[in-house]
Parts: sequence; structure tokens; C-alpha cells
Amino acid sequence: MKGIILAGGSGTRLRPLTGALSKQLLPVYDKPMIYYPLSVLMLAGIRDVLVISSRAHAELYEELLGDGSRLGIRIAYDEQPEPRGIADALVMGADFVGDDRVALILGDNIFHGPGFSAILRDSIERLDGCALFGYAVHDPQRYGVATVDASGRLLAIEEKPAAPRSRLAVTGLYLYDNDVLGIAKNLSPSARGELEITDVNLAYLAQGRARLTELGRGFAWLDMGTHDSLLQAGQYVQLLEQRQGEWVACVEEIALRMGFISADACLRLGEEMANSAYGKYLMEIASRHAVAPVG
Ligand code: DAU
Repeated sequence: MKGIILAGGSGTRLRPLTGALSKQLLPVYDKPMIYYPLSVLMLAGIRDVLVISSRAHAELYEELLGDGSRLGIRIAYDEQPEPRGIADALVMGADFVGDDRVALILGDNIFHGPGFSAILRDSIERLDGCALFGYAVHDPQRYGVATVDASGRLLAIEEKPAAPRSRLAVTGLYLYDNDVLGIAKNLSPSARGELEITDVNLAYLAQGRARLTELGRGFAWLDMGTHDSLLQAGQYVQLLEQRQGEWVACVEEIALRMGFISADACLRLGEEMANSAYGKYLMEIASRHAVAPVG
């Protein structure tokens, strides 16, 4: 399976923070925002990743992540000239995806919770069409909203409905089979001139091939669209890391646990950042005798 991180957009709701910097490079406590979605793809076992950013910031992503080899993965880059919609990533990424399946994740979404790796692996294994992830929120009108029946079957999805029929937001992680490339290519722009991801999901729903897994209580799904939510996400990560002494979305640690890099390679990455707590953490986990694989 291939992975696409969509990290474009103009970040207008976060001005002036995004005056000179891309939103998905902003700090979320101790690491750039894009580490969080990248960590999700890596936990899913994905080693081929396309990062789509706006033209103005493309070089910064390459400077930060390089070709991915340090993490034992391959990272390619593309530039979206202007925000043409989330589903545009599936049009832009068609050659990259080839005849494979694809996981698309928004660059400003954080997923964190117990058993998430297993949920991901299970969803990929059972993928037939499209797999979505739902999360109950208090303000569903800001999101794509899913309606499910008593048995959990997906009945409807509406994009930012004024009167939501449920509290279940469709999160920014989408798993698709290869048919998605044809579906995205044939989409018409919505009234706001964008290729809507909800229209892609509705096409699968109409075929009876859309599943939704609800991420339950105790799970954290955070998007960082406002100054408050950005700060809260940082505080969430700080709290967990300081309390547990285990880092959230530490992509080097995930590369090690997934078997993408050796302990030696992880140690070297830590040594390069030895002045920071992050670097010290990497050195510490690399030098532990046994590093538990992702379970
Ligand atoms: O976060 C989950 C929600 O994401 C879903 O529930 C909605 O169904 C989905 O439409 C989307 O809603 P948003 O209002 O968050 O979409 P937004 O236009 O803000 O785009 C989300 C991110 O994707 C944002 O960080 C910028 C980036 N983006 C967006 C567009 C439209 C791009 O890089 N390029 C684009 O063309």
C-alpha cells in the first residue's frame, strides 16, 4: 500500500503563524506537525510516501524529511499549485500509486490511542473498497459527518451539514483500493470549486463498499485548525510524553520498532540531535537491549 500526506492549503485560520511557514511544519510540542500523520502511515507498514505541499513550502519538507532513507522508507514530493480539494491528492498521486492501494492522510490530523496499530493493520487486511474512521465530536458541523445504523453499518456521509444527523465526524485518514484513482479522476468540482473527498467516499458508499470503524472513547483524534486546537494538541503530547516517558509520533522510534532501521541507525539519528531531549530519547531506546516491536 502507498501513502499520501496532504500538507498543502493556505493555513488562513492560523495566520499570522502561517504567514511565512507551512501549517504542517508548525511545532506540535517537540516535533513538526507532519511527523504525526507520517507516524500513522509508518505504523500501517507503509514505506512509500508522497508528500503533497503548496509550491511555496515544498523545499522545506524535503529539507526536513529528505528521501526518507534515514527512516528506512521512501519519500517523494509533489506541489499543489493551489488548494483544489482533498481528493485532488488522489488525482495528483495517480502515477505514484500505480496499481497499488493507497492510504491518504491529512497533514494536520493527529491520531493517538491504544491499539491503533492493530486497528490500522486490520482495516488494511480487510480493505474492500474504502475504509473510513469515525470519531464522536461535540461540533460535527465542522466535518464530514457519518450516519451509521445500530449494527454500525455506514448509511450516509454529509460534508459539513448545518443540521448533523449524528456526532460522528469522518476523520482525515482514508484507505482505498485502486478504484479510487478512477473515481477521483471523474469527480466534478463542488460548488466551492474543490474536489471533495466526501464525494469519493459517497461513490464507494453507493457501491456498498465503504466501511467505517469508530475510534472509541479514550482515543485522541485532533485536528489543528485553530490557535487553540494547535496549543491543545501540543499540551496533549507534552502531558503524555512527560507522564509516560514514551514519545508520541517519534518517527525514528517507529522505524526501529517496525524493523525499517537498525538500532545502530537509530542511535546515530539520536546522536545527531544529542542536545535535545528528543535526541536523548532516541539514543536511549536504541541502546536498550530489546526493543519491543509494534504490537
Ligand atoms: O479533518 C477531517 C475533515 O477534513 C473531514 O471530516 C472532512 O470531511 C474533510 O472535508 C476535511 O475538512 P476540512 O474542513 O478540515 O478540510 P480543509 O479544506 O481544511 O483541508 C484539510 C487539510 O488539507 C488542511 O490542512 C489543508 C489541506 N489541504 C486542503 C485542501 C482543500 C490541502 O493541502 N490542499 C487542498 O486542496
